[in-house]
Amino acid sequence: MKRVTITGAAGLLGPYVVQHFVEQGYDVLSTDIKKPEKPLSRFMFADLNNLGECYDVLESADAVIHLAAIPAAYMFPNDVTFRNNTVAAYNILEAAAGRGIKKAVIASSECIYGVVTTRKGLTPAYVPMDEEHPILPEDAYSLSKICSEAISDTMYRRKGMQVVSFRLGNVISKEKYLNFPNFIHNPKERFMILWSYIDARDIATACRLAIEKDGLGSVKLNLAADETSMDITTGELLKAEFPTVTDIRCPVDGYHTLLSNEKAKKVLGWKPVHHWRDNVPKV
Ligand SMILES: NC(=O)c1ccc[n+]([C@@H]2O[C@H](COP(=O)([O-])OP(=O)(O)OC[C@H]3O[C@@H](n4cnc5c(N)ncnc54)[C@H](O)[C@@H]3O)[C@@H](O)[C@H]2O)c1
Repeated sequence: MKRVTITGAAGLLGPYVVQHFVEQGYDVLSTDIKKPEKPLSRFMFADLNNLGECYDVLESADAVIHLAAIPAAYMFPNDVTFRNNTVAAYNILEAAAGRGIKKAVIASSECIYGVVTTRKGLTPAYVPMDEEHPILPEDAYSLSKICSEAISDTMYRRKGMQVVSFRLGNVISKEKYLNFPNFIHNPKERFMILWSYIDARDIATACRLAIEKDGLGSVKLNLAADETSMDITTGELLKAEFPTVTDIRCPVDGYHTLLSNEKAKKVLGWKPVHHWRDNVPKV
């Protein structure tokens, strides 16, 4: 299990994942429709909307990490986002199944719980939101991620292919920490994502653990840091923005995340190690 194809290599998250796999001794083929800024591994251009191109990028892979997507709602017309993300996920997993690949990871999103883009007002059924929380999408991007998870289930049923779908919180690259001082004291900022975040380097580790583990089936796992992205206690945040949420299942006197990462820790033996307080100088 040493040859990995990683899609979305020219994006925000892709380079962190590619670099991690290269450093861990994997033979990496990275791919995207755009050229990555830095050459970190072998690279091939491919548009994943074309099934044949998916077969080509998986020619010598033992596993695939699928990160490519339009990464948010309303960046493009709804049908463009839905078609691109759903067809790309279908094609890469269809090609992986066709090539006999046994392990895959896909990037899903916390958006499927209805956070980020709801226009009707966000009210979590309970916090922290775990993988059992109701799925409440309103937009085409979230729906494309739900479809991607359903495609994963399908490929597991059809071929026994293990697929780990990571429901990612807001992805933070090293540069993005520079922006933290601008919001960490204001509960009105980022409440639509329950103030969650996840360091790109911790996602990279989770991706590797996901393909190194056996017997996971098709599983959905939230990935979030242990603490919120705020310098306000979790209790104060909830009081300020979600006073009607009464089902609170974590301590609130510290900074406990409201996007649960317990299942990923349990299933993968993963632990996030990059925390904003260590990366933001002086707050
Ligand atoms: N950034 C976040 O906060 C966040 C949060 C939750 C989930 N995610 C998911 O994580 C993944 C990575 O996100 P990101 O922030 O790096 O996004 P990004 O836009 O920076 O990178 C995605 C890459 O996918 C490529 N791509 C898109 N469609 C393609 C296609 N049809 N064929 C080939 N390449 C294609 C793009 O060219 C781009 O380089 C995405 O699936 C996104 O939906 C991101």
